Amino acid sequence: MNRELRGRRVLITGASSGIGRCLAEQTAGEGARLALAARSRDKLEELASSLAAKGAEVLVVAADVTSDADRARLLASVVERFDGLDVLVNNAGVGSWGHFAGSTEEVLRQVMEVNFFAPAELIRLAIPVLTRGRQPAVVNVASMCGRRGMPAWPEYSASKFALCGLTEALRGELARFDIDVLLIVPGLTRSDLRNHMLRNDGRMKIDFDGGMPAEDVARKIVHALRKNWTETVVGRDARWILRMNRFFPRLLDWLIGRRIRRLYAS
Ligand SMILES: NC(=O)c1ccc[n+]([C@@H]2O[C@H](COP(=O)([O-])OP(=O)(O)OC[C@H]3O[C@@H](n4cnc5c(N)ncnc54)[C@H](OP(=O)(O)O)[C@@H]3O)[C@@H](O)[C@H]2O)c1
Repeated sequence: MNRELRGRRVLITGASSGIGRCLAEQTAGEGARLALAARSRDKLEELASSLAAKGAEVLVVAADVTSDADRARLLASVVERFDGLDVLVNNAGVGSWGHFAGSTEEVLRQVMEVNFFAPAELIRLAIPVLTRGRQPAVVNVASMCGRRGMPAWPEYSASKFALCGLTEALRGELARFDIDVLLIVPGLTRSDLRNHMLRNDGRMKIDFDGGMPAEDVARKIVHALRKNWTETVVGRDARWILRMNRFFPRLLDWLIGRRIRRLYAS
């Protein structure tokens, strides 16, 4: 199946920066009608006016996806403006970098709220609306850490694993409504995530600047939507690690363990 994006009503969470922002620019370029959500209203409005200047139809909704009331208001605003929804992209996310023993329950719960409970509940709210959509789809932006847990990303890995599991379960459930459920699994990406870390005290430095451009991830999301690819791994690092994990999981465990022991020996 090929999905046409022209005229489609697309809601993107986490559209104020990074991957979400690039995705908004690219889907607007494809002729989609956009609803953009995040907490930073000023950034969303600045993006919306630049997209509107190029002829795009854009709705801005400042919302915290962890709030029940905000999620309900977000979906109601989309339905009121566009009379429905065709594509929901759950992209908003936060990171947390540091070892689990030194972390807190609060960090764990907050990461799960943003990266798992919020998209889960937004999907639940959106199902009746998407059921009436045209070639409807849910796109969940997970992470390489959602397919292979990584040290110093314990809360983040757990939240993204939960999102991957939900995505697979819903793919089957929502088939009866013809709602496609797609999963995006990016590796390290140059974005604003470094400023959306609940903690950042891992011993190794994460080189976000060495990650792939957020534009590349957005381009893959657009492609996955067009081609209806159920799972898209994005980035050389992610492809390499996930292939190693699939074929040589114990070797990967050993390599990671050796690296951590060396790091902490010094
Ligand atoms: N960067 C990477 O290396 C990488 C790798 C794999 C997967 N990912 C995933 O890709 C997605 C996008 O991240 P990014 O890399 O583009 O990072 P980013 O630039 O930090 O973008 C995160 C977005 O999420 C929004 N957000 C955070 N908390 C929110 C909340 N409570 N309510 C509403 N919006 C919220 C932020 O906007 P406001 O602050 O304005 O709310 C921002 O627009 C995330 O799910 C992330 O886990 C990133």
